[in-house]
Amino acid sequence: MRFVVALLLVSLAAFAARADDKLDPETGLKIAPNWELAAAQCGGCHSHQLVTAQRGDREYWLQLIRWMQRTQNLWPIPAEIEEPLLEYLATNYNETDWGRRPPLPPTLLPGVAKQ
Ligand code: HEC
Repeated sequence: MRFVVALLLVSLAAFAARADDKLDPETGLKIAPNWELAAAQCGGCHSHQLVTAQRGDREYWLQLIRWMQRTQNLWPIPAEIEEPLLEYLATNYNETDWGRRPPLPPTLLPGVAKQ
């Protein structure tokens, strides 16, 4: 019986650790170093949820920022802000962090002619 209780406590602790990602209630952003930069820079035109729904490495986030600057009127972000911001995005919203399986390749989708 004592063993079962211990096991229960250990699994509860593990569960609590997983749920430990603290989210800012206002933006939904993960609270981690430099999250305030994303809160300030990335919610003016669209919901922060557009950010938290994406995953990518540093290059992905950099190209996305450049794309928004080229085509969506995103303002220039000074390097001393952009660097830590990219670090935050690539660390907390990286490509290995999907909460669900990646999309199926087109060849596995229904209705695609066999090649
Ligand atoms: C000046 C306005 C503006 C700001 C500020 C802005 N964005 Fe965007 N962003 C856009 C627009 C416009 C779109 C396209 C929305 C759409 O297609 O509905 C977009 C799209 C996106 C997308 C979706 C890309 C996709 O593939 O669907 C992501 C992710 C994103 N922005 C992240 C960010 C991040 C991170 C920041 C902060 C560095 C940021 N945005 C700041 C204007 C902005």
